[in-house]
Amino acid sequence: MIELLRRFGGKFRRYMVIGPACKLIEVIFDLLTPLVIAQMIDKGIGAHDVNAVVHYGVVLAAMAVIGISFTLVCQKMAALTSQGMGTDIRGALYERINKLSYAELDRFGAPSLITRITNDVNQVQLAVALGVRMLIRWPFLAVGSMVAALAIDLKLGIIFLICTPAIGLVFWFVMARCIPYYKQLQAKLDRIALICREGLSGARVVRAFVREDHERERFAQAADDQANTAIAVGKLSSILNPVTFLVMNLGVCAILWVGGIQVNVGELTQGQVMAFVNYMTQTLTSIVYVANLVVVFTKASASASRINEVLNCVPSITDEGNQPVALPEPGNVAPTSALSLSHASFSFGAGAANAVNDVSLELPLGKTLGIIGGTGSGKSTLVSLIPRLYDAGTGSVSVMGADVRTWPLDQLRHVVATVPQRASLVSGTIRSNLTWRDEAATDEELWAALDIAQASEFVHNKPQGLDAPVEAGGKNFSGGQRQRLTIARALVGSPQILIMDDSASALDFKTDAALRRAIRERSMRGAAEGGLPLTTVIVSQRVSTVRDADMICVLDHGSVAGLGTHDELYTTCQLYREICQSQLRREELEGQQGSASPAPAPGAAPASTAPASVCTKEGC
Ligand SMILES: Nc1ncnc2c1ncn2[C@@H]1O[C@H](COP(=O)(O)OP(=O)(O)OP(=O)(O)O)[C@@H](O)[C@H]1O
Ligand SMILES: [Mg+2]
Repeated sequence: MIELLRRFGGKFRRYMVIGPACKLIEVIFDLLTPLVIAQMIDKGIGAHDVNAVVHYGVVLAAMAVIGISFTLVCQKMAALTSQGMGTDIRGALYERINKLSYAELDRFGAPSLITRITNDVNQVQLAVALGVRMLIRWPFLAVGSMVAALAIDLKLGIIFLICTPAIGLVFWFVMARCIPYYKQLQAKLDRIALICREGLSGARVVRAFVREDHERERFAQAADDQANTAIAVGKLSSILNPVTFLVMNLGVCAILWVGGIQVNVGELTQGQVMAFVNYMTQTLTSIVYVANLVVVFTKASASASRINEVLNCVPSITDEGNQPVALPEPGNVAPTSALSLSHASFSFGAGAANAVNDVSLELPLGKTLGIIGGTGSGKSTLVSLIPRLYDAGTGSVSVMGADVRTWPLDQLRHVVATVPQRASLVSGTIRSNLTWRDEAATDEELWAALDIAQASEFVHNKPQGLDAPVEAGGKNFSGGQRQRLTIARALVGSPQILIMDDSASALDFKTDAALRRAIRERSMRGAAEGGLPLTTVIVSQRVSTVRDADMICVLDHGSVAGLGTHDELYTTCQLYREICQSQLRREELEGQQGSASPAPAPGAAPASTAPASVCTKEGC
């Protein structure tokens, strides 16, 4: 909490001084009130003097008005500080989350990050507001009332001195048991957020597999778990108020009894006894509020450490000090390798098997690399190394001849456009989704990208065209339409390398083929118009999608099982042949066996300059 105050409190220091100062003035009036009431009782009511009663009544009213005015100022200061700090903390958290690499995002998990940016920040806001308003008030009122009461009469003070530690002891007993529960409660909220997120985002699958009951049960368990902890805390803290008020009221009875005797013998006036009772009530009530402050601050401190954990998390992928990389000169690109991996390996955690294992390959500029392999073979992880979504643990990845670690991240991710496996759109319009890579893109450029992505027809059919609305997650589009829009998005802003991670999986074969043809034409057009040809990496589970690629990489458990053209791999790589046999029609396979080097399909890429095929899988 202190760390957060140090980081974000500076801007609000003025409010944090003015607020408590106003509260202090209000407390002084609160402390004077019992004395004025005592005067009213002794000089007004006791002496049957109506004028004195009215006089002290006016004084009390004036004190109340002044006190309220200062309270209002204090409330405003508290609101400005807590809301301002909350907004700043949320902004800083969001900024930091956006800088974290995939590895850190995986570690925290999206639901926990959402709880931290919402609920945890709320807890801190509440503590800051209460801090400004109450941190001075209750301790000051407790001590002030105690001193004032003892100044009235020391004998009655003994009762006071017995009641105060008794209540303190009850609080210590309860709080020491409650505090560990508050920390658990936050973690349990994370779990509820996780289940909600999974259940809501996967609602269609849940229904399709008739898993509603199971999901309800899972949610109920998490909610019950959280509720049970909250109830345990509630039960413990519920004994606080009755015990406090019991002690307090016993104390008041004792004071009235002893005080009554002293009034009878003339040692004290009735007003003084009433003032004593008021001070004692104020002190003991203050202790109750101080304990509540302790609860709020304990929760806030648990939340603050969760917030600090994110704010202090140093992104493992940074580009500090990296200078812009010069791209190859158009027209003189022949020897340039657009992409090269040298013994690149990556694992998701210490002790975990490598998801990418010792991958080496080189792809010349303007060529197409196909990556194929079974589910979980490491295809997505491998392509994530290119735009530095993950950093290779060992080995290196280079783009345009420069190690990706030496690129400014913005430039690298502008040069390399990625179409992720899961098509994701955000609420807005088609235009706002397409212009992520280039906000100044013209309509002409957007339509050109949509044409290549085979998406222009369905966008044209929308009455608002490019300004047609996109709902959250793009749920008003079909899976195939979403995929095509994300491909178009990647093509806007003229990338030099396009990575499509299984992003045509929802397209029919004809549209998939048309898409690949359009991308090839775009690559050749780019080169013909004096720019750089587009280099493409296509990840797919379908042989038909990668078979025309200049180079195909067959992945098996993160390792390269084969590298070469379709024909080369068909004859040398058993795994690739098995994939082909499971997917291609018999006629296609027979044609395959009959021709070692078939003529390229119309519109196919020029003859490959890829390295000779290598099959590294045993038995291939
Ligand atoms: N965020 C992650 N944390 C831990 N392990 C992961 C993570 N993402 C992937 N993996 C593991 O890494 C391996 C490779 O996963 P990857 O997503 O790269 O496979 P893939 O070939 O793209 O599969 P698919 O064809 O299903 O998309 C898998 O064993 C997977 O369980
Ligand atoms: Mg994948």
